[in-house]
Amino acid sequence: MPPDWNAGLYDACHSFVWEFGRDLLAVLAPQPGERILDVGCGTGHLTAEIAQAGATVLGVDRSAAMIAHARENFPLLRFEVQDVCELPYQAEFDAVFSSAVLHWVQPPEIAAAAMVRALKPGGRLVFELGGRGNIQILVDSAYHALRQLGINQPERFNPWYYPSVAEYSAILERCGIEVTFAHLFDRPTPLKDGERGLEAWFRMFGSRFMEPLDDAGAGEFLRLVSDYAAPHLLRDGIWSADYRRLRIAGRRLPPA
Ligand code: BEZ
Repeated sequence: MPPDWNAGLYDACHSFVWEFGRDLLAVLAPQPGERILDVGCGTGHLTAEIAQAGATVLGVDRSAAMIAHARENFPLLRFEVQDVCELPYQAEFDAVFSSAVLHWVQPPEIAAAAMVRALKPGGRLVFELGGRGNIQILVDSAYHALRQLGINQPERFNPWYYPSVAEYSAILERCGIEVTFAHLFDRPTPLKDGERGLEAWFRMFGSRFMEPLDDAGAGEFLRLVSDYAAPHLLRDGIWSADYRRLRIAGRRLPPA
């Protein structure tokens, strides 16, 4: 993950990240009185929707900037800075929820085990992340641009993990989850800011690719990325990111 996020910019320009998470809430179906953990809650918007259903919700995020923003947005809700791999909770929650976060987290086994430990036996795990093939054109364009700029092995700068249905389901089963639902699907997503949308996206989420470059190199990188991706992702002045989602739900099995 980036060392820390620009939470204000995230809320202002990249709100689609949590807005798309809304229909995942229908899968979670939070009930009044339930205790729910929202992992990677960002600026807290989905956490607040879970609370509105009458559940007692705790939002956690590894970014202190995101948590500060979430507390400002929703002062009556509880938010804590926590790394998903180091969650301290043991069998406390009726459900653990996460939207558009887990593709930033490696190794996935550690994150999955920590989320499962936080669940009561029988508790629900519901989450969505980028799935196998997510933003393939954007990633290819970044590799192409870095190679053009003389950087070898550009895969070193890819911060993401996009598993298949089988891969993540197997991880969850090994952690004691019965997987009840798994779906990999395309969700092409229009970006804000017109012709500048792709640059804004890379500056917010893909800055890791620009780490080996100085300012002039970063400008050149963004030009090369745009030239490569435009025939696939730019239509009528609007960029569309080639997102693919992996959505999974399951239950923690009782101890054998
Ligand atoms: C995603 O939600 O798939 C995603 C968001 C930011 C960077 C990479 C992927």
